[in-house]
Amino acid sequence: MFNELSKLSNGVFIPRLGFGTYLIDEKDAAAAVRAAISCGYRHIDTAQAYENEHAVGEGVLTSGVKREDIFVTSKVMAEYKSYDRAVSSIKESLDALKLGWIDLMLIHCPQPWAEYGGEYRYPEENRAVWKALEEAYDSGLVRAIGISNFNEWDTDNILAAAKVRPMVNQFACFAGYTDTGLIEKCFAEQIVPEAYSPLGHGEVFKNERLKETARKYGVTVAQLCIRYTLQLGMISIPKSVNPERILENTRVEFEISPEDMVTLRSM
Ligand SMILES: NC(=O)c1ccc[n+]([C@@H]2O[C@H](COP(=O)([O-])OP(=O)(O)OC[C@H]3O[C@@H](n4cnc5c(N)ncnc54)[C@H](OP(=O)(O)O)[C@@H]3O)[C@@H](O)[C@H]2O)c1
Repeated sequence: MFNELSKLSNGVFIPRLGFGTYLIDEKDAAAAVRAAISCGYRHIDTAQAYENEHAVGEGVLTSGVKREDIFVTSKVMAEYKSYDRAVSSIKESLDALKLGWIDLMLIHCPQPWAEYGGEYRYPEENRAVWKALEEAYDSGLVRAIGISNFNEWDTDNILAAAKVRPMVNQFACFAGYTDTGLIEKCFAEQIVPEAYSPLGHGEVFKNERLKETARKYGVTVAQLCIRYTLQLGMISIPKSVNPERILENTRVEFEISPEDMVTLRSM
């Protein structure tokens, strides 16, 4: 089991391999989280938008592992762009998870999903939501705070007004889709970059080049792709509901050569 930790800028440790729960139904999420924890995962990623926080919390509490040994992330809905709505939604997440505290709370997206990629980037609104996260952090109910899907400009907008700097930026990264500039920006700002969809939401399994490279290392395409994001220095949070795959995705203790890293990065 891969069990390295990264240190966030406030000294909190985050397990570098996490378990994603997007599209896991509320009815299946507790069992999936228990399966992940029994395979060794100590980091679970959920969000208000996934509508499974209650079951994720139940999975953690019934896993047989102490609450303080599991790192749980949630995210404020992309659509909540006011201070008041962010404050109440953080309280709703704490109530739904029932875990006492949240280890990492993110702003899910700088824009509401319906406007994703649009011109207006909600600068003042995101600063207002950030203030709500800072207050939750100061209260101790949230141990670390961060952003998700924020590009360089969105990140600078928060940094320019922040009392507490973002500790994490979670964004899509997989072999064939790597934003090197954003990863470097994160490292320069002491923000830990986190790769979501490290399996390209399932797309990587169709790629012949990845199959061939995985064969060379004697691993599966999933293991190659998860290892790729970890070797970029990122946190990686693959999702599966299948217990065998959940376990398979933890077996990533091999080394991709520098040449193959370049190929995977530039695919
Ligand atoms: N911040 C954001 O905006 C954002 C956006 C997207 C995702 N995320 C987070 O990142 C997590 C991961 O991303 P994702 O769910 O989009 O996709 P992903 O982890 O890249 O891929 C998941 C897909 O791959 C399949 N899979 C997993 N392991 C496999 C294996 N070993 N062999 C074959 N197939 C395998 C899964 O199917 P089975 O389940 O059937 O195994 C599922 O279809 C999410 O769950 C969520 O927590 C965050």
